[in-house]
Amino acid sequence: MHFTDFGLADTKKLLKNALRGGYAVPAFNFYNMETLQAIVDASNITQSPIILAVSESALAYMGEDILMAIVDGIEKKRGQIALHLDHGHSLEICKHAIDLGFSSVMFDGSGLPLKENIKISKKVVEYAHKHNVSVETELGVLAGIEDKNTKSKNNSYTDPTIVKNFVKETGTDFLAIAIGTSHGLYKRTKPTDKLRFDILEQIATEIPTTPLVLHGASNIPQKFIKTINKFGGNIKNAFGIAPAQLRHAISLHITKINVDSDSRLAFTSAVRETLAKDKNAFDPRTYLTKAREYVTKNCVDEIQNIMGSGYKI
Ligand code: G3H
Ligand code: 13P
Ligand code: ZN
Repeated sequence: MHFTDFGLADTKKLLKNALRGGYAVPAFNFYNMETLQAIVDASNITQSPIILAVSESALAYMGEDILMAIVDGIEKKRGQIALHLDHGHSLEICKHAIDLGFSSVMFDGSGLPLKENIKISKKVVEYAHKHNVSVETELGVLAGIEDKNTKSKNNSYTDPTIVKNFVKETGTDFLAIAIGTSHGLYKRTKPTDKLRFDILEQIATEIPTTPLVLHGASNIPQKFIKTINKFGGNIKNAFGIAPAQLRHAISLHITKINVDSDSRLAFTSAVRETLAKDKNAFDPRTYLTKAREYVTKNCVDEIQNIMGSGYKI
């Protein structure tokens, strides 16, 4: 199957439009029917483009047949919904996602030696382009306090002097870069920590026509942490990337912004709150409906207040 058979949008087109228009397209991760519906609802409410991101583990969790069936079932008339493999770690999984009908794939070779990263990225691009599918690759390892693989924090940032050659050698369509974000809840030691905009500016100067991708870009809304902790949770010292910094990054060519943790927090806060307030609740639809609402509302907020992508066709 090809992504067009499912009525899915071409990720490359969405991102080229965004780069030209000076906004970002959000890539929101999903892993079940409720998170998928919530994200799609946010796209419809804001009439804006959206990338549905599926990690390897989310693919395994849903099962590929169910995943493609629920994606097939969503309304895509506006032509602004793309399906993307997030953090594919092998040529095989990227090929498989392309064959299933994904609009784009990420090959994450950021943990490999540069030569190896280039070699496999190139093979992914060759296969993907043969099928008119676009590719995201990564240079640099996401820095941050969660990163246990790198000894020196500075070594983790993307080296701006090699990006041009990397894009040329691999033929990649978009490039994920490391400028100080990290995955998960514990991104910053304090909320005011700044991203390395100097590195981002240098990268954008080197490859001005390549859409740049920011992973680990959740802003970790403190209201969800408060609700989770109020109703039995215990999450401490979790800080994300401030919306103003994300907006600044977008003005410097960040064109795809990956968000997963914020949706997880929205979902969990709704479930905890609903169950704590109604001790007799036992129909999962009561708390899953609330969870869906919270995720939709948060995605709408981020589209309108961070991405700048609302009402962009
Ligand atoms: O970048 C990673 C995403 O947050 C997906 O994480 O493998 O737990 O689904 P996951
Ligand atoms: P967060 O953990 O900041 O939401 O990042 C998600 C991500 O980068 C998915 O690829
Ligand atoms: Zn990521």
